[in-house]
Amino acid sequence: MRTPLVAGNWKMHGHLSANADLLTALVSCADLQTKALEVLVCPPSIYLAQAHSLLAASAIQLGAQNFHPQNQGAFTGEIAAPMLQEFGVSYALVGHSERRSLFAEDDTFLLAKCQAALSARITPILCVGESLEEYEKGQGLEVVRAQVTSVVRALNPEEVQSLVIAYEPVWAIGTGLTATPEYAQQVHAEIRDQVAHWSEPSIAQQLRILYGGSVKPENAAALFAMPDVDGALVGGASLDAASFIAICQAA
Ligand code: 13P
Repeated sequence: MRTPLVAGNWKMHGHLSANADLLTALVSCADLQTKALEVLVCPPSIYLAQAHSLLAASAIQLGAQNFHPQNQGAFTGEIAAPMLQEFGVSYALVGHSERRSLFAEDDTFLLAKCQAALSARITPILCVGESLEEYEKGQGLEVVRAQVTSVVRALNPEEVQSLVIAYEPVWAIGTGLTATPEYAQQVHAEIRDQVAHWSEPSIAQQLRILYGGSVKPENAAALFAMPDVDGALVGGASLDAASFIAICQAA
């Protein structure tokens, strides 16, 4: 039995007062504090301390959008996983398509990030997904398979056990286009097969696979009804308390 996880990726949005309003609304919603569901918010790094203190008395978890794979050193402007840990961060996104395409993070770097997060007892949420061009050429499954394989085959079973994977088709991110629930299910099942192949079937069965890409209150329930969709990674709709709460309630 996999506990659903709904994660809000705020991306580069927010300011102190808006964050406080949003987090206060989430904390005061009883439906987000149940054991049957895990809820996570990933604010920009500079607001992690603010979120850490506002979420202190709640079950809502804190996630980071980014960090550097080294634990310390001459990496001006970067933040290390152990630093995130000090601020109550329990999850971190790795391999988001915006990091892959805009910041040239490749598979080797992403594997190092996963390992650094795991060493700091932070759960990496490994994001994978094909571009529009790859999707149109019918290469979606192949691309996703390769992205999953490059990380999973290099981790030991205990490490894979501590992983979450998010399938985010790049063509569905911020575009209003969503994968159909059936297509999402097909890709999620393939991801689970790949993980079983490179680790162990029982680990693959327990692995949570989130869907991301224009998830909204209107489409969340149909996606969550799919057997291999274990939650969502929500961008735009996570900035609006009512929308994010409605998505969580659908999980
Ligand atoms: P949207 O929900 O805005 O499409 O963003 C998805 C995403 O990239 C979450 O990480």
